[in-house]
Formats: sequence, C-alpha cells, structure tokens
Amino acid sequence: MNFSVNFLRTNPAVKASAAFRRRGISIRHLAFTFAFSIALLTLYYNYLRHTVVPFPADVIHYPQETPEVWEARALQVKNAFLHAYHGYERFAFPKDELCPVSNGSIDNFNGWGVTAVDSLDTMLMMGLQPEYDRAMSAIHNMNFSLPINTRVPFFETVIRYLGGLLSAYAMTGDDILRTRADQLGTILAPAFNTSSGFPSFSVDTVRGTSNGPKFGGLAEIASYQMEYAYLGKITAKKEHVDRFTAATHNLHNAELRKYGGMYPMHWDLSSGQATDAHLSVGAASDSAHEYTLKQYLMTARQDTANLEMYLRFTSHVLNNLMFISPNRHLLYVTDSNLYRGGIRHTHSFEHLSCFLPGLLALGVHTLPLNHLEDVGLNFTELADDLLPEHKMGYEELASFNLTDLHLWAAEGLAQTCYLTYADQPTGLGPDIISMRSGGLYPEITWMEAMQEWKIKGRRGPPPGVGDKHPWAGDGNNTTDMLDREISIDRRDYYIRDSQYQLRPETVESLYILYRVTGDVKWRHRGWAIFQAIEREAKTPSGYANVKMVDTYHPEQRDVMPSYFLAETLKYLYLLFREEDIVPLDEWVFNTEAHPLPVFEWTKEEKEAYGIP
Ligand SMILES: *[C@@H]1O[C@H](CO)[C@@H](O)[C@H](O)[C@H]1NC(C)=O
Ligand SMILES: *[C@@H]1O[C@H](CO)[C@@H](O)[C@H](O)[C@H]1NC(C)=O
Ligand SMILES: *[C@@H]1O[C@H](CO)[C@@H](O)[C@H](O)[C@H]1NC(C)=O
Ligand SMILES: *[C@@H]1O[C@H](CO)[C@@H](O)[C@H](O)[C@H]1NC(C)=O
Ligand SMILES: *[C@@H]1O[C@H](CO)[C@@H](O)[C@H](O)[C@H]1NC(C)=O
Ligand SMILES: *[C@@H]1O[C@H](CO)[C@@H](O)[C@H](O)[C@H]1NC(C)=O
Ligand SMILES: *[C@@H]1O[C@H](CO)[C@@H](O)[C@H](O)[C@H]1NC(C)=O
Repeated sequence: MNFSVNFLRTNPAVKASAAFRRRGISIRHLAFTFAFSIALLTLYYNYLRHTVVPFPADVIHYPQETPEVWEARALQVKNAFLHAYHGYERFAFPKDELCPVSNGSIDNFNGWGVTAVDSLDTMLMMGLQPEYDRAMSAIHNMNFSLPINTRVPFFETVIRYLGGLLSAYAMTGDDILRTRADQLGTILAPAFNTSSGFPSFSVDTVRGTSNGPKFGGLAEIASYQMEYAYLGKITAKKEHVDRFTAATHNLHNAELRKYGGMYPMHWDLSSGQATDAHLSVGAASDSAHEYTLKQYLMTARQDTANLEMYLRFTSHVLNNLMFISPNRHLLYVTDSNLYRGGIRHTHSFEHLSCFLPGLLALGVHTLPLNHLEDVGLNFTELADDLLPEHKMGYEELASFNLTDLHLWAAEGLAQTCYLTYADQPTGLGPDIISMRSGGLYPEITWMEAMQEWKIKGRRGPPPGVGDKHPWAGDGNNTTDMLDREISIDRRDYYIRDSQYQLRPETVESLYILYRVTGDVKWRHRGWAIFQAIEREAKTPSGYANVKMVDTYHPEQRDVMPSYFLAETLKYLYLLFREEDIVPLDEWVFNTEAHPLPVFEWTKEEKEAYGIP
C-alpha cells in the first residue's frame, strides 16, 4: 500500500507529460497520459477499497494485576490531586486557577475560586476531609459579587460552579450548598431572556441582563438541562424547571430533516432554529449531544424525547461521521458540512470528541438497544421523517445487533483516542489531529467497512476494533518520529494542534469502558496516560499544559485548568479504584464530571411543572 501511495506521488507518467509538453508533443500524447493517470488512480482507489478486509489485530498481552496494585495506583492519583490542590491553595486561592509554572494565579471564570468549587466532589470521593472543609468555609462566605460591567459566561459557570455545588450537595445534603446553587442559578437566569428560551452567551449579574450575540453554539445553549433539572428538583422551584424544559422542547421540535436528525453547530436564539449545516461531536457541539442521553438517564428514563434525540444523533454519527483510516484502520469520528452543494468532511479528529466512546458505552450499559419496543420506540420509525438516504442508513444499522454495534464503535474510538497518546514520544495526546483521507486517499466510512466485513464472513474483529500497537512501538527514532511525511504515512495522521491541555475526555471514556466491559486493557491504557502526565506535566507546584506532545521534553504552559482536578484526576482515580464508588446506574456525570443522582419526578411535580 505504501508502495502505491509513493508511486502515485512520483507518478512517472505525470512527470513525463510535463516534459513532453515543453518539447511540443501532440495533444494525443497528453490525452493518453491523462487517461493513463486516471486509470492508475481508479486502480489505486479500488485496490485500497478492496484490501480493507480482513482487519487484522495485534496480539497484546495485558497483565492481570492484583487488586492491591490497582489500589496503589489509585492512591498515586490521589497524591497527584493533593499536589495540584495544595499548589492551588498555596499560590492561587481564592482566585480561580493556579499558574503552575510561575506560581501565579488567574481569574478566568468570574473570580469566585473555580478550582475549589470544581474540586469539591473529587475531594469527597478521595476522602480528603481537611481540604474539603477549607473549601467549604469559602463557600459559606461566597456571595457571587462582581465588579460592574463583568460578563459571566453562562455555560462555563453552569458546568463548573453550579455542577460542582450541586454534586457536592447530592453527596452530603449540606444545605449551604443548595442555597448557593439556588442563588447562582437565579442570578444566571437573565440568560434565558431570549425569545426561543435558549440561553445567551453571558450574563451581567450586577444589572441582571443578558449579553452576547444573537446566535449561539450548540454546546453553550444546550448543556445546562441536567443542572437546572436537578436544581428545580431540590429547590422545588418551578422557574428552574421551566428553564430546562425550554431547551428540550426547542431541540425536539427543531427542523432537522436536512441534517439527518442531528443537531448542527449554530443556532438562532430568537427563532430557536439551526443556522448552519456543520455537524460535529467536537468543540462547540459536544456536550449538547452528551446531555440527550444523560438527561434521559438522570430523570429515571421517563423522558422519551431525549432518548429519541440520542438515538437519532448516534445513528447519524455511526452512519455518516465515522471513518476508517487507510493503513492502520483506525476508527475515528469527524465532522461534516455543506460545501458547494456537496457534503464535505474535514477528517479532523479532536481530543474533545473522545467523550463519545464513553457516551456510547454508557448507552450500551443502560439502554435496551435491541429491544427499543420495551421503552415504547421503534428504531427504524425514528427515521420516518428523514430523507430516504438517511432512512436507508437506519435500516443498515438495524441489520446489525445494535448493542454490539454501539459497543464496537465505543471500543474502536476509545482505542484511537488512546493511540493518539501512545503514538507520541511524550505519551500524551495532541488536541487535534487530521486523518489521512480524501484527495488521493480513499474515504472509507465505518459502516461501509462494516458491511464489507459482514459480507466477507465476519472474519477477525470488526473494522477498527481489534487491539493495535502504537505505531512507533518501543522504537526510539527521533528523526522518524519528527518527520511529518513519514509520520503521516505510517501513523495515518498529522498533528494539527500538538498541545496536551490536561483534558479529560480520553480517560473519561477509558473509565466508562472499563466499568461497562470489565476489560483490564482500559485500565492499563489509563495507567500509561497517568504516568505520562506525571512525567511531562508535573511542576513543583501543580500540573501544566504540555506544548508539543510530538517532541522529546516539550515545554510546559503556565496553565492548570480547574477541569484537571474536577475531571481528569477524578476519572483516573475512579478507573483504578477496585470499588465502584459512583455506580453508573445511580449517578450521571455532568459534562464537567460532577455526578448528579438519578431521580424521578413525582406525580405532583409533573402536574405542577407540566412535565409529560
Ligand atoms: C513554585 O513553588 C514551588 C513549591 O514551593 C517551588 O519549588 C518552585 O521553585 C516555585 N517556582 C517558582 C517559579 O517560583
Ligand atoms: C462578597 O464577598 C467578597 C469577597 O469575599 C467581599 O469582598 C464583599 O465585600 C462581599 N460583598 C457583600 C455585599 O457581602
Ligand atoms: C429581556 O429582553 C427584553 C427584550 O430584549 C428587554 O426589554 C428586557 O429588559 C429584558 N429583561 C431582562 C431581565 O434582561
Ligand atoms: C417497526 O416498524 C416497522 C414499520 O414501521 C415494522 O415493520 C417493524 O416490525 C417494527 N419493529 C418492531 C420491533 O416493532
Ligand atoms: C446482541 O448482542 C448482545 C451482546 O453481544 C447479546 O447479548 C444479544 O443476545 C444480542 N441480541 C440479538 C437480538 O441478537
Ligand atoms: C531513547 O532516546 C533517549 C535519548 O537519546 C534515551 O535517553 C532513551 O534511553 C532512549 N530510549 C530507548 C527505549 O531506547
Ligand atoms: C530513523 O528513521 C529514519 C527515517 O525512517 C531512517 O532513515 C533512519 O535510518 C532511522 N534511524 C535508526 C537509528 O533506526
């Protein structure tokens, strides 16, 4: 295969035709050369397409460690948390975040001490009472005051502060947390003063007005339903409940025929309708998709509208946005947009999208995907109001066992997320890569590959799912690693943004996959990532974003996001703990890893709040 790629790049026919033209060679020669090149291209495409099957897997031995070994690793994560939090307390508290290289501090999120609030439930899980008590004394004094003309970003404030207060309340029942959550939920409410009921980007909490553009990113306008639903439940306030029902109502009634039933990225806050055709599970979209399933699960699986939205979204992604890379057969998810009347994919794969395998695994764990009639749904009928090609896609999906299909998708994607770490000399994953596809390389959708795999007798693991070694293995060839061309050829991708931002999505998915499948390989992969964080990101006072993960000994950036303590270290800790301390049937993590309890609306609440 490499041969054919290189062969095309230096195609002698192409070079020769240019030389001939200079010597005044006739048009017939040129036409012949052109036809010859086209023929070669066609051969090349077909050759690649038909050598996709079978999809070989590497044999990788993952040792069975004793429970004591994993508990000791959980303890190491707890120590990492203490290192980071003590650095924050010493140099930054009560500001928002620590600058872990300069020992400075920064107010990124309203200056209410976001790292402390974001860390509360992690401390509770780790049993860090002294740290928790110190943070709580700040919460007692918290009054959400701000200088005049400050704009509070709605989405980040909800997921970090409101989510943090609510989950600590759920775990302790401490009234002060509910009071603070209620106050915060109330001062943010002017954001909902749009004619659609979708929140605007930010709020001036001093004046009580909303700010921001007339258009909103999907994730920012539709990732607050869990928080406001639970806030409504524990405060018994109808106005909090009404706010979350508005988003569900808008989304469920949006006109999505053109988009195959999936929500695009940009929305008009007046009309409540989508304004572009950019479909993505990455930045600016991610958590809105995540909340469809999570909202359904958190409200005890009564909210069928959200379940339908989840099934439509995942079906569109499985059919249209998942691809297999040409050489290593890495499974990945990308985006689509309309371009000159056709559909185009960027083949970018974002670290942010690595929440998706965990979400799919959570769906497999909680939903009767092969027996949706048990929850009052018919899978193929969900596509009745879509275009015929989308309807066909649903039928193709339904020709597989949907539980298996969703789990394979989860496993294949999670493996690719992990490999983007393991492939690098640092062992840390870049923020965005671009997969080799399109142009000279064939675009192979996962479902095309799956159909081929099925037709050819299901030999070996499904495409993209079998275990794979990192591309460099134990090799230590710097020249090789750093050479862009060679990397693209062998790895199937190039790195577009080489920073590791201490992000959680990959370890989040590893954790959920481990809990759902019990396969220790997910733990081993998480352990490799934790060790890389210790090696590359640790500073004397905390942990720092790492600049170029594809080099040896990269520089660090003076940034330690609060989500590193709220999410990344929490998921790693839960991954290594033997005991399942946050059972996935009883708790649902918000998009900042704050677990909220599953609850049911009573008959009286449903009547009072107009919940179906
Ligand atoms: C930051 O604080 C740590 C811990 O006290 C210390 O080791 C380190 O030298 C300090 N760094 C700077 C830049 O002052
Ligand atoms: C609110 O808290 C801040 C920080 O603790 C304090 O400076 C301010 O005086 C308080 N404002 C009110 C109105 O209590
Ligand atoms: C809500 O929006 C309307 C129309 O833009 C405006 O007149 C009103 O003052 C706003 N109210 C609040 C509380 O922001
Ligand atoms: C779903 O609906 C289709 C037709 O709309 C029907 O043929 C099929 O049997 C239904 N499936 C189930 C599981 O009820
Ligand atoms: C689908 O696969 C699951 C898990 O492999 C299995 O338990 C179930 O019986 C299968 N269902 C159907 C309808 O084949
Ligand atoms: C890789 O190269 C570095 C720098 O030359 C060296 O320190 C390290 O030991 C090598 N690792 C392996 C596995 O060969
Ligand atoms: C490293 O890789 C480059 C490019 O593939 C190759 O030319 C070189 O021989 C390799 N060096 C070693 C020590 O393997």
